[in-house]
Amino acid sequence: MKCDPRLPTKDRMDQTTCPPRIPRIGEQAPAFEAETTHGVLRLEDFKGSWLVFFSHPADFTPVCTTEFLAFAEIHATLREKGCELLGLSIDSVFSHIAWVRRIEEVFGAKIEFPIVADLSRKVAELYGMLMPGESGTEASRSVFVIDPAQVVRAVIWYPLTTGRNMDEIVRLVDALQTTDAHKVGTPANWRPGDKVIVPAPRTQEAAQERVAAGGPDCVDWFYCKRSL
Ligand code: BEZ
Repeated sequence: MKCDPRLPTKDRMDQTTCPPRIPRIGEQAPAFEAETTHGVLRLEDFKGSWLVFFSHPADFTPVCTTEFLAFAEIHATLREKGCELLGLSIDSVFSHIAWVRRIEEVFGAKIEFPIVADLSRKVAELYGMLMPGESGTEASRSVFVIDPAQVVRAVIWYPLTTGRNMDEIVRLVDALQTTDAHKVGTPANWRPGDKVIVPAPRTQEAAQERVAAGGPDCVDWFYCKRSL
């Protein structure tokens, strides 16, 4: 039986010759249970909340430390939006504990979100977090934005050497929540408070109606914005 790349990893026939693949936007986020710095947690424990689930390459490394300080800074903001934060690396829970304690000692920052200790790589492989071309031992910098129904809504990837932009992660959560609440799109560089994109018409008749209605926010039949 051949590997069918369209199937989620868990449904592939041959798990040994068929490599895990990255969960795609619109798919159910793969379920897991794992040891974390807050005890054993399951993905299901986050049902009903938005979740930013991210991997970092390794504890006690400089770029990752800058990221943890930055994740700690956005943690309260995300929670106000009903969004939890969960980290992961291929390190032991003891390493995670020692690192977050050291971050607090050196930088005075409390890391209050849980971190998966994925020494077995089970969760990293389920989410395709390992990029063997980049590193055989460290997870790359992935971000999965998972909605309250546990559907993957966005995926971001960064290489080992580049720290992520926290403003963009918060902006992404805002954009997805705005889309869900108002059935609109969000333009490039959108920020909360900016005008949003009215979905383009999908029939000639609807396009004609859009042109007839006109208005300053409709530049053309397919390009209309509005305030919320
Ligand atoms: C870092 O966080 O500094 C780092 C981690 C793994 C590879 C390269 C850099």
